[in-house]
Amino acid sequence: MIPRIYIPGDSGALALGAEKVAKAIEKELADRGIEAKIVRNGSRGAYFLEPMVEVATENGRVAYGPVNPSDVKSLFDSGFLSGGHHNRWLGAPDNIPFLARQTRLTFARCGVINPLSLDHYKAHGGLKGLQNAVAMAPAEIVKQVTESGLRGRGGAGFPTGIKWKTVLDTSADKKYIVCNADEGDSATFADRMIMEGDPFVLIEGMAIAGVATGATKGFVYIRSEYPHAVAMMQKAVEAARKAGLLGLNVLGSPNAFDMEIRVGAGAYVCGEETSLLNSLEGKRGVVRAKPPLPAIQGLFGKPTVINNVISLASVPVIMDKGAAFYKDFGMGRSRGTIPIQIAGNVRYGGLFEAAFGMTLGEIVDDIGGGTATGRPIKAVQVGGPLGAYFPRSLFDTPFDYEAFAARDGLIGHAGITVFDDTADMLKQARFAMEFCAIESCGKCTPCRIGSTRGVETIDKIARGIEPEKQIELVTDLCNTMKFGSLCALGGFTPYPVMSAINHFREDFKPAPVAEAAE
Ligand SMILES: Cc1cc2nc3c(=O)[nH]c(=O)nc-3n(C[C@H](O)[C@H](O)[C@H](O)COP(=O)(O)O)c2cc1C
Ligand code: SF4
Repeated sequence: MIPRIYIPGDSGALALGAEKVAKAIEKELADRGIEAKIVRNGSRGAYFLEPMVEVATENGRVAYGPVNPSDVKSLFDSGFLSGGHHNRWLGAPDNIPFLARQTRLTFARCGVINPLSLDHYKAHGGLKGLQNAVAMAPAEIVKQVTESGLRGRGGAGFPTGIKWKTVLDTSADKKYIVCNADEGDSATFADRMIMEGDPFVLIEGMAIAGVATGATKGFVYIRSEYPHAVAMMQKAVEAARKAGLLGLNVLGSPNAFDMEIRVGAGAYVCGEETSLLNSLEGKRGVVRAKPPLPAIQGLFGKPTVINNVISLASVPVIMDKGAAFYKDFGMGRSRGTIPIQIAGNVRYGGLFEAAFGMTLGEIVDDIGGGTATGRPIKAVQVGGPLGAYFPRSLFDTPFDYEAFAARDGLIGHAGITVFDDTADMLKQARFAMEFCAIESCGKCTPCRIGSTRGVETIDKIARGIEPEKQIELVTDLCNTMKFGSLCALGGFTPYPVMSAINHFREDFKPAPVAEAAE
C-alpha cells in the first residue's frame, strides 16, 4: 500500500508553516526514493498543534504536531510513515483530548477528508441529507429544520426553520439563498474552516435550502480576507456542478439549484444581512430599514433566505439523521452543537464543537487551559467585538443563548477572546466605541455620532476628568445607542462598553491629572 500523508492546506495551518512542512516532506520522500500520496486536508481545528501531519497506518491515522520543517528528517528516521514514535507523536487524532472531548456533527469531516474529493465526502456520510431532501415535499424539509431547533449561528440566533418557512410561503418568480460568509467577528474562524476543510457540506446545505424554499440560485458572500476559502469554494462549486449536485436537476431530481461565489470588499457592516444584500447588488454596503424582511423582499427585491455558513452547514446532518437526533443535543432553547472558537491569550486555542450547555469556565479553563502567558484570566469577551466582557465571577454561565442574554451578553458567532490580568478594560471600552465609529455605515445618528462622542467621553475618564460624571454620560449614551440604533452594530456596542464599566470599575478610576483640576 502506498503511504498516505495528510498535511493541512487550511490557511490557519499555512500561517503556522504547513507549506514549508509539506515541501520538506516532499523533498525527503524524493531523497529517500519513497512513493507516497500527500493529501492536503483541512484543519481539525486544534491550532496549538498545527501544522499537524497525519499518516494513514494499518491501525488507523496517527498524528504528529506541531511539526517544523526541521523535524522532517527525524520523523522519517523514526518510521513515521508507519506511525513510529517521535517527540512530535500525538497518537490517534481522535484520542487527542482537545478533539476527543468534542461532539462533531457539523465539523465531522473537517480535517479528515480531502476537501475537494466528492468520493471522500460521500464515503464519510456526505450527500445523504440532500438525497433525503429531494425525496420530500418542501414543507416537510422546512418542518424537519424547524423541529431540529436549529437557530442562526451568525449571531442573532433566529430559528432557521421559521425563516425558511417565510420564504417558502412567499410566492415569487425567483427566490434566492444567500450564505453569509463575511465572518468579521474577532476570534472567529469556523466559517473559514468549513469552507476550506469541507466545502461540500456548505454546498449541500445551500442546495437543501433551495429545494426547501423553491429558491433556484444561491450566492456565498465571502470576505476578501479569505482568499483560500474563496478559491476552495470556487473549485468545490465547479466539482459539484460536474457531479450533478448543482444544476437544472439536483441529484437527478426536478429541482434546479445553482450557486456563485462573491467576494466582499472589507467592511464589517457588510456582515449585517441587509447591508450584505446591498453589497451583493453592487451598491454601497448600507443597512436597510426592516420591514420588509429579506425573507419577503431580499436580494433584488425577491424572497431570500440569508443564513450564516454554520447554520447552512448544519442542515445536512439534520436531514440525514433527523430532527430528533439533532435536537437531542443542547439545553433549553439552544439545540444541537455550536463550534466554539477559542482565541486571544489562551493556551489551547482552536475550534471546539460541543453541544450547548458547557459553562464559560469549562471552556476557557479546562478546554482552553487558561492563558498562554500563564497569568490569571481577567476577562473573556464572548461574541466578537459587540459581545460583553465576562469576569471570572460569571464563568458559571452556560453556553446558551438565553443564559448569556440574561447576563447582558451574547453568544454571537461563538468566538471567545481571552485576556489576562494585564488587560486595561478602559482601553477595551474605548476600542469598542472606536471600532463602532470606524465601521458605522452612517445611516443612523446614535451609532454614527454616538460612537465618536463615546470615544471622547472615555478619553476624558482616562485623563481623570470628572470620571464619575463621564461614566454617567457614557451610560446614558449607551442606552441611546442600544435602543435607538437601526442595527446591532450601534445597538450592541454598549455590551462591551457597559460590561467593562460594570465588571471592571477599578480600571475606570484613574488618578485625576492637573487638567482635571483646571
Ligand atoms: C454589524 C453586523 C455584522 C454581522 N456580521 C455577520 C457575519 O459576518 N456573518 C454572519 O453570518 N452574520 C453576521 N451578522 C448577522 C446577520 O445580520 C444575520 O443575522 C445572519 O447572517 C443571519 O443568518 P443566521 O440566521 O444563519 O445567523 C452581522 C450583524 C451585524 C449587525
Ligand atoms: S447602527 Fe450603525 S451600522 Fe447600523 S444602521 Fe445605524 S449607522 Fe449603520
